Amino acid sequence: MEQTIKVELGERSYDVRIGPGLLDSVGPTAVELGSVRQAVVIADSNIASRYGRRVATSLQTAGVATDMFEFPSGEANKTMASFSDLIDSVFTISPAVDRDLLIVACGGGVTGDITGYVAASVLRGVRWLQCPTSLLADVDASVGGKTGINHASGKNLIGAFHQPSGVLIDVDTLRTLPADDLRSGLGECVKHAVIRDATLLDFIADNTAAILAGEAGVMCDLIARNVAIKAAVVAGDERESGTRAHLNFGHTIGHAIETIVGYGTISHGAAVSLGMIAANAMAVARGLIDQGDALRVADALGALELPTAYSGLDPEQVWDVMQHDKKARAGRVRMVLPTEIGNVDIFDDITAREVAHAVSALE
Ligand SMILES: NC(=O)c1ccc[n+]([C@@H]2O[C@H](COP(=O)([O-])OP(=O)(O)OC[C@H]3O[C@@H](n4cnc5c(N)ncnc54)[C@H](O)[C@@H]3O)[C@@H](O)[C@H]2O)c1
Ligand SMILES: [Zn+2]
Repeated sequence: MEQTIKVELGERSYDVRIGPGLLDSVGPTAVELGSVRQAVVIADSNIASRYGRRVATSLQTAGVATDMFEFPSGEANKTMASFSDLIDSVFTISPAVDRDLLIVACGGGVTGDITGYVAASVLRGVRWLQCPTSLLADVDASVGGKTGINHASGKNLIGAFHQPSGVLIDVDTLRTLPADDLRSGLGECVKHAVIRDATLLDFIADNTAAILAGEAGVMCDLIARNVAIKAAVVAGDERESGTRAHLNFGHTIGHAIETIVGYGTISHGAAVSLGMIAANAMAVARGLIDQGDALRVADALGALELPTAYSGLDPEQVWDVMQHDKKARAGRVRMVLPTEIGNVDIFDDITAREVAHAVSALE
C-alpha cells in the first residue's frame, strides 16, 4: 500500500512517503537524515496528545532527544504571536539549539505553515520534517516549501520558502479528521485533476464512496496521485514565477467568496468548489471548454458533497474584492481557466462582465 513520491528540486529534493502507520517511522527517518542530535515536535492543541506524542516517542526510541511544543489550534492562531511563542520555546531546549536540530511539524496546514516558518527562521534555517494529518495538508500544504503566517492585512502575507527534508503522510490519521476538513482536501484534489490530469477526475468519480469513507488503500492512491501533481508543478516553478500559479485555479473567485461571506462561515473547500464552478462557467463562455466538461467537474464536486451553487452573491462586490487580491497586478485581474480537463492557462484580460456572468452561474 505504501508509496513514495520524490519532489525533484536538485539539492533540495525530498521524498514524500504515503502509507498507514508512518507516524511511527519519524524516528528512523530522522536518523537516516544524518547528524540529527535533537528534535522539536510542533503540534496544535488538537493534535499534540492525539498524534504529536507518538511522533515524539518515535524520535526518542530512535535515540533522538526530543521536546514537544504546542500552540492553540485554528487559522486564527496562525499568527506572529504563536510564531513568537514557539520560537521562545525552541530556545529553551537543552543542550542549546544548533544546526543539528530537526524540527517536525505534526498536524494540518496551519501547523505545517507555522512550523516551517519557525524552521526557516531559527539560525536562518534548520532542517524540518512534515507529518501532515489533514487531507488538505497531505495533498497540498505539505509539498512545495511555502511556509508562513497571517497578518492583520491578509492571509499568508509573511513567510519564507523553506523546503522540508521529508514528508511522512500517515493515512490512518484521516480516520479522526472532521468531515468538513476532509472535503476541504477533496476540493484541492478536484483542482489538481482539472489543471493536470483528466484521469484523476475519473478516479475520483469512480471511487467517491470509498473516498468519503476514508478507505486506506484508496486514500493512499488518491494522495499519491495528488502529491505527484503538486510535486511536478513545484519542481517546474519552485518560486511561483509562472506555472505554479496554475494551483490558483478556483481560488480567485473562491477567495473573493471567502472574504465576502466571512472566513469561518464557509469552509475553504466549499469556497474553492464554488470558485471552480464559476471559473468553468467563464471558460465555457469563452469557448475554451464545452458545457459537458463543466458538468463533469460539477458532478464530481457534487458527489463529494461539495457545494456547486450559492445564491445572493453581489457580482460587483466579487469583482471589487478580486481587484484587491494580492495576486492581482495593478488592479488587473488574472484567472486560471481550463482549456480542457487536465490543462489550464493564465488569463490576465478578465472583465467585470465575465465575472458577473460567472457569479450568475452559481445561482
Ligand atoms: N504551504 C502551502 O503550500 C499551503 C497550501 C494550502 C494551504 N495552506 C494552508 O493550510 C491551512 C489549512 O490547512 P488545514 O485545513 O489542514 O487547517 P488546520 O491545520 O487548521 O486543520 C484543520 C482542523 O483540523 C484539525 N485536525 C487536523 N488533522 C486532524 C486529524 N487527523 N484528526 C482530527 N483533527 C485534525 C486541526 O487541529 C484543525 O482544528 C491554511 O492556513 C492554508 O493557508 C498552505
Ligand atoms: Zn486551496
